[in-house]
Amino acid sequence: VIHLAAFKAAGESMIHPHKYSLNNLSGTINLLGAMLEHGCRNIVFSSSAAVYGEPNYLPIDEEHPQSPENYYGFTKLKIEEFLSWYEKIHGLAHAKLRYFNAAGYDVTGKIMGLEQNPANLLPIVMETAKGWREKLKIFGDDYDTPDGTCIRDYVHVSDLARAHTLALEHLGKGKGSLTVNLGSQEGISVKEMADTAKTITGVDFKVEMADRRPGDPAKLVASSKRAQELLGWEAKNSSPEQLISSTWHVYKSKAAPL
Ligand SMILES: NC(=O)c1ccc[n+]([C@@H]2O[C@H](COP(=O)([O-])OP(=O)(O)OC[C@H]3O[C@@H](n4cnc5c(N)ncnc54)[C@H](O)[C@@H]3O)[C@@H](O)[C@H]2O)c1
Repeated sequence: VIHLAAFKAAGESMIHPHKYSLNNLSGTINLLGAMLEHGCRNIVFSSSAAVYGEPNYLPIDEEHPQSPENYYGFTKLKIEEFLSWYEKIHGLAHAKLRYFNAAGYDVTGKIMGLEQNPANLLPIVMETAKGWREKLKIFGDDYDTPDGTCIRDYVHVSDLARAHTLALEHLGKGKGSLTVNLGSQEGISVKEMADTAKTITGVDFKVEMADRRPGDPAKLVASSKRAQELLGWEAKNSSPEQLISSTWHVYKSKAAPL
């Protein structure tokens, strides 16, 4: 089983935590129950960098303390704990894949659907370049980073997809459970992302600085050394240019979603 289904908006999870409990926690418990009932032995789970919270050190490796800053991250952490217990008691093998910031579009062009009301940076940048939004708001330009805006580790969905295939193979061969970070190991600032998007789209869209959002660490960058060692995985399509071009390729010809 590859278990990707979840609610994932960190801000919303702090306003409607019960919604996140029902879907993310109860949904996973139901899924684990169905797996046990049908003799299904392996699960690949979409976990998140949100399980770590504010970083104590960088790059963040899998041994970093886990102290989520929002309820969404808490649900991912609890599911990780369920998986460890179900392994201990029932022998279910798991791959906990802690994605950093997933971004980009399928490079083969098979998946062309647009996300509605996106909350992640890149789709918002695209909607601004298309003129569907008046401006891009950057939340805080006074962080302790070179240009003052937050730095994140963006990883292309094609790289993430490849990690899932490798994790399934690993579990299928009986090599045991694993927990790995999936990130590019490169930090990109919000401003750098916006500037690169302006160059690639050719649109000089409006950018406005806004107040910081609570709970946003200045910098998050992954160490994906363990994914390299255990799965032979590393990000290959996750440069800002590849992330933006693959996304713009889909957005540039689209009308605004309803
Ligand atoms: N996007 C990121 O940066 C990121 C980072 C870390 C982890 N993740 C995790 O990766 C997974 C996929 O994320 P995404 O960015 O593709 O999110 P997404 O919101 O685009 O996709 C999640 C999908 O799950 C579906 N879903 C939710 N609850 C469901 C349910 N009970 N039954 C059936 N379908 C349900 C939603 O309709 C949606 O299509 C999620 O578990 C998310 O928490 C995402």
